[in-house]
Amino acid sequence: MTIRRADWLFLLAVGLVVAFVSLLPSPREQNPPIPGTPAHRGRVAEKDCLRCHDVGQARPLSDRHPKRRDCFRCHRQEDRG
Ligand code: HEC
Ligand code: HEC
Repeated sequence: MTIRRADWLFLLAVGLVVAFVSLLPSPREQNPPIPGTPAHRGRVAEKDCLRCHDVGQARPLSDRHPKRRDCFRCHRQEDRG
């Protein structure tokens, strides 16, 4: 089989896409961190977050907020890194 010019262009395009995606910032760098207020200080377990951040609690999440429950995946804790 012979490799044609179009094949090389295709490979180049794939390589560029991979490079671009791997350079995207990780979401944890962009999202608001968990603040160092008393409510969040210490080792707050992930399952405790919804005590205050659920509908009807002290600080419910906005409608636009992702409905996922793995909070630490997107929010880093400032003192924990
Ligand atoms: C005891 C109640 C309480 C618990 C438990 C709690 N929070 Fe909060 N959280 C608050 C309050 C009140 C605020 C807003 C005021 C402030 O900055 O303290 C807030 C603010 C935040 C913010 C910042 C929002 C912004 O506008 O920048 C994030 C992110 C957050 N919480 C995530 C979490 C996560 C993740 C957990 C679980 C580890 C958690 N919280 C547990 C009460 C709580
Ligand atoms: C898929 C990523 C992701 C996950 C998982 C996630 N968050 Fe967020 N969160 C965000 C982003 C992005 C914002 C900023 C949204 C904005 O500016 O409206 C945010 C904002 C917040 C805020 C402040 C503004 C608001 O929308 O009320 C709080 C509080 C918060 N998150 C708490 C939590 C808690 C508690 C959990 C776990 C139940 C959680 N987050 C899980 C991405 C995430």
